[in-house]
Amino acid sequence: MRIITFGTFDMFHVGHLNILERARAMGSSLVVGVSSDALNLEKKGRYPICNQQDRMRILSALSCVDEVFLEESLALKPDYIRQHQADCLVMGDDWAGKFDELKRLCEVHYLPRTPAISTTELIEVVRSVPQR
Ligand code: CTP
Repeated sequence: MRIITFGTFDMFHVGHLNILERARAMGSSLVVGVSSDALNLEKKGRYPICNQQDRMRILSALSCVDEVFLEESLALKPDYIRQHQADCLVMGDDWAGKFDELKRLCEVHYLPRTPAISTTELIEVVRSVPQR
């Protein structure tokens, strides 16, 4: 079974690793659509800290990831699923229900997020460190 997932994966953290490892364990290969810098601006209202080339490089280096591509539009998810012949879409449960219409193309599963960590929180923690 070919698994596909999507995300920004900015400032790569253990919550990212957990979902990728769990997604990979659900099938025989894992392909990851990495949100482009422009898409991230549209989706989250800011550019990522790490640019798309670097985020793709980090993901490609992981043993649980078989293939990485650039996700340039949220509306293209059905095309990406077809292009990569994915049998199953896996997303964190912050997206629960949001991709149910894709069940016509492949299985869709939402996995529980790792508690107490996110890119947003990491940015806030770094910002709150007092300057010397
Ligand atoms: N994810 C997770 N557990 C976390 C953080 C993220 O399982 N603690 C999952 C998301 O549900 C998503 C994938 O990792 O399926 C990529 O999420 P992304 O939005 O890139 O990471 P966040 O840390 O949630 O980023 P942000 O704070 O900018 O929203």
